[in-house]
Amino acid sequence: MKKKKYFLKEFFKEKKTVGAVSPSSKALGRSMLKNINFSEVNAIAEYGPGTGVFTRMIIKKMKPGTKLLVFELHDAFYNNLVKEFKDNDNVILINDSAENISKHMKEQGIEELDVVLSSLPLTNFDKRLTANILKRSHGALCPKGLYIQFQYSLNAKRILKRIFKDVSIDFTAKNIPPAFVYTCTK
Ligand SMILES: C[S@@+](CC[C@H](N)C(=O)[O-])C[C@H]1O[C@@H](n2cnc3c(N)ncnc32)[C@H](O)[C@@H]1O
Repeated sequence: MKKKKYFLKEFFKEKKTVGAVSPSSKALGRSMLKNINFSEVNAIAEYGPGTGVFTRMIIKKMKPGTKLLVFELHDAFYNNLVKEFKDNDNVILINDSAENISKHMKEQGIEELDVVLSSLPLTNFDKRLTANILKRSHGALCPKGLYIQFQYSLNAKRILKRIFKDVSIDFTAKNIPPAFVYTCTK
């Protein structure tokens, strides 16, 4: 099944957690990745890859040996990611909520992350889940680490500012719908 059609099908099954009707554009992916210095990244986590549009872009830019932890909650998306990325030893696919980041880092022997890249529809979640994900991500990042998140509105600004030191916001019109990219420093 084509990626767009299959994404839409998953959206109708799980509207709140999928949070979008089609996969993001590569232009949004470029905007998400533009502040990452991949030559200094040893460990990165991606939350909510869906059909893997950003995952593919990250893998292309990662230096050899960088570990990518990928958290996808929904089985259908996860199973397809396994089919595509199972032969890449540096990609660790996790069929669990991003909320459990600390447990999985421990299991993988990863002490800190350089980057968290999140597509989670944060403002659809209950407040406790959002706060847990953000606080635990903050705790998992190295001192110079970046938390990068896209959203379709500016509603996430307040909660991100409460947890991260500095939050800068970019806008990209080349996505359906247009999106804001938040880049947060620890
Ligand atoms: C807006 S979609 C983004 C998909 C893809 N990154 C893109 O931009 O096209 C959100 C994704 O987050 C996943 N998701 C929702 N809640 C999650 C959670 N707690 N942990 C991990 N993934 C989650 C959904 O299954 C979905 O794949």
